[in-house]
Amino acid sequence: MDATAGEVTLDEVVALCKRRGFVFQSSEIYGGLASTYDYGHYGVLLKNNVKAEWWRAVVQERDDVVALDAAILMHPRTWEASGHLDGFTDPLIDCRACNLRFRADDLEDANCGKKPSKRPGEYSECDLTDPRQFNLMFETQMGPVKDDAATVYLRPETAQGIFVNFKNVLQFARKKPPFGIAQVGKAFRNEITPGNFVFRTREFEQMEVEFFVPPDEAAEWHKRWLADRMRWYVELGIRTDRLRLREHGADELSHYSSATSDVEYLFPMGWMELEGIANRGDFDLSRHAEFSGEKLEYFDQGSGERYVPHVIEPSAGADRAMLAFLVDAYDTEEVEGRKRTVLRLHPRLAPVKVAVLPLVSKEGMPERARAIYEELRARIPAEFDEGGSIGKRYRRQDEIGTPIGITIDGQTAEDDTVTLRDRDSLEQIRTPVQGLADELTERLQRPWQSPKSS
Ligand code: GAP
Repeated sequence: MDATAGEVTLDEVVALCKRRGFVFQSSEIYGGLASTYDYGHYGVLLKNNVKAEWWRAVVQERDDVVALDAAILMHPRTWEASGHLDGFTDPLIDCRACNLRFRADDLEDANCGKKPSKRPGEYSECDLTDPRQFNLMFETQMGPVKDDAATVYLRPETAQGIFVNFKNVLQFARKKPPFGIAQVGKAFRNEITPGNFVFRTREFEQMEVEFFVPPDEAAEWHKRWLADRMRWYVELGIRTDRLRLREHGADELSHYSSATSDVEYLFPMGWMELEGIANRGDFDLSRHAEFSGEKLEYFDQGSGERYVPHVIEPSAGADRAMLAFLVDAYDTEEVEGRKRTVLRLHPRLAPVKVAVLPLVSKEGMPERARAIYEELRARIPAEFDEGGSIGKRYRRQDEIGTPIGITIDGQTAEDDTVTLRDRDSLEQIRTPVQGLADELTERLQRPWQSPKSS
């Protein structure tokens, strides 16, 4: 826990997200809906970049994984086969006095509704029920008739959409094990105790790969995916002393898993899961084969061997990854007697890559700046900002993590050069407008390491 000392608090990150329009409370004008969030402009761009980097790493830069986008609503038998209908539960305790609900296995960390806050059950008025199993799946009705036959569920994980499409992909993508199917999409869980901003919510996005392998290669592929996924976070700038792999103990393993390790990040609340990487064996394909009556296996024409592939599953949360990148990037420092807050995001993740700023709103500078911006934005995500003092505009760009600022000043009209300001070092250099897009592209592609690492 020591590594958090002097680091950012979650409240600071939440405040910045609100101040700069990354993330808002959902339905705010109606008082908000608990633990649901809306993403504003920079939040959308940042989360899109996280997802784009994931697609790049798991599909574009490999030739053994293909993409899928399955429906959120699935045939209800899916959830019988997967075990979610019976087993996707948390033990729930109600308090009849304050009407709050708690996870029975989390009472130690829970707070009673009365003030000063104590643990549930510690006030004499507390009136707790016995624990009962509460299914986390959201139920809804399909079609106009409200009866049991029409009950469907909002998927609690994207994974099952992949398993039920195994046969389609095998047939149409001309793949054979080892190969994977990747998907990004919304998942829904009626969590009893959501919280910590977008860390645990009831509606969130997952980024999942189901990687199908010959059974005797499963352990080896599990190891490879552990290394690949750790490397992804590090390459995108997460500091290595804030990242670790934690292997699940036998008592923690899901019923389907023979081995799972979590990628954990040192959030302000402590070490917490970013991503789970499980060896799921043949559980999923066997169960769906049993419940659907379809054969979900692979026939190797070369060897004549027929088998049910085993599955390695790296399963990450897009919102949670975004939160980790934000926490890791958040920094403050004093510059010329003033406090500067800066998001030191990896340039590939930064919502805006280049800000184009006229020094002042006169002498043709805004017009020249706008023309430069319009040329740049065809190649690089750029923003033009002419309102307020230059200092204020830099502060705004620092807070949204823009890696490069370009200032158009009096000298620009004389020699067609601009000032290029580096977000992290604050170094300023002059560079010609001619060839600016190439210069910026080259700079943005340079290897980057968080200055907070040292
Ligand atoms: N298919 C396996 C699976 O869903 P999980 O550990 O339950 O495994 C995988 O979820 C990832 O999804 C987690 O590591 C986390 O990043 C994200 N996730 C799970 N529940 C979440 C929630 N309530 N809010 C935000 N992200 C969540």
